[in-house]
Amino acid sequence: MKLEQQRVYLKMGRLDGKVFVLSAAGQGIGKAVALMAAKEGAKVIATDVNGELLKQLEGVPGIHTQVLDVLNKQEIEKFANSLDSVDVLFNCAGFVHHGTLLDCAEKDWDFSFNLNVKSVYTMCSYFVPKLIAQGRGGSIINMASVVSSIKGAPNRFVYGATKAAVIGLNKSLAVDFVQHKIRFNTICPGTVDTPSLRDRMAAQGDPEQAYKDFIARQKLGRLGTPDEIAYLVVYLASDESNFVTGQDFIIDGGWSI
Ligand SMILES: NC(=O)c1ccc[n+]([C@@H]2O[C@H](COP(=O)([O-])OP(=O)(O)OC[C@H]3O[C@@H](n4cnc5c(N)ncnc54)[C@H](O)[C@@H]3O)[C@@H](O)[C@H]2O)c1
Repeated sequence: MKLEQQRVYLKMGRLDGKVFVLSAAGQGIGKAVALMAAKEGAKVIATDVNGELLKQLEGVPGIHTQVLDVLNKQEIEKFANSLDSVDVLFNCAGFVHHGTLLDCAEKDWDFSFNLNVKSVYTMCSYFVPKLIAQGRGGSIINMASVVSSIKGAPNRFVYGATKAAVIGLNKSLAVDFVQHKIRFNTICPGTVDTPSLRDRMAAQGDPEQAYKDFIARQKLGRLGTPDEIAYLVVYLASDESNFVTGQDFIIDGGWSI
């Protein structure tokens, strides 16, 4: 019997038996991933700095919520030490700064690098040793963007720099820990319809025009949905991608063609 048929027959999920930890699960892509991973059988530990947002996930079968600020090293250490076991880590937290070099004060640069890049370093520095000690490999998925080393976009100066750094960091990790069967891959989305995107549109002088502009740059003629990104994350978290590491997965409605 083929794997897919077996799954249907046995009602198996694609992530059965895996402990799946993620950041920024309170809304947008992270929330969609938490829900889909739980549906696929993972034991999900959904974290976010915003406890109010996490309340929407409380009581969902397979999901345990935990307030975690990925800018806080002590909190991360305590959290990592509190877990008996982990198989998947999805570093999703990130912030989009709007502006060019001329709008980017040093504090903006530091905040974006701390949240988008240093948090990945800190999370990995506690979770990679844990995965090594467990001795059964694992999958770490890091959130980059097509706006990175892949593509420039107007007014995404420090954002693009941070996401390019995530791509480089991911490749280094993939090479250094491949012998431990720990896989590292990045997700590089185009524009996805999430609450923070809606906030960015609202912050523009003409939100309707901003919406049209966001759509115009994606050749498939629409925004992506959080679920469309979640399908890719589930694939990279699952054993279906066991031969995949060190790669960057563009999912951008054709923006970068
Ligand atoms: N939405 C897009 O179009 C898009 C495109 C490419 C990449 N991304 C990336 O995807 C990720 C998620 O974006 P989104 O738009 O789905 O989500 P979002 O921006 O709507 O939500 C971000 C979540 O991160 C949480 N968060 C913020 N600071 C945190 C911290 N210090 N510690 C823990 N959690 C924190 C927030 O509380 C919120 O729940 C980001 O890294 C973003 O750069 C998004």
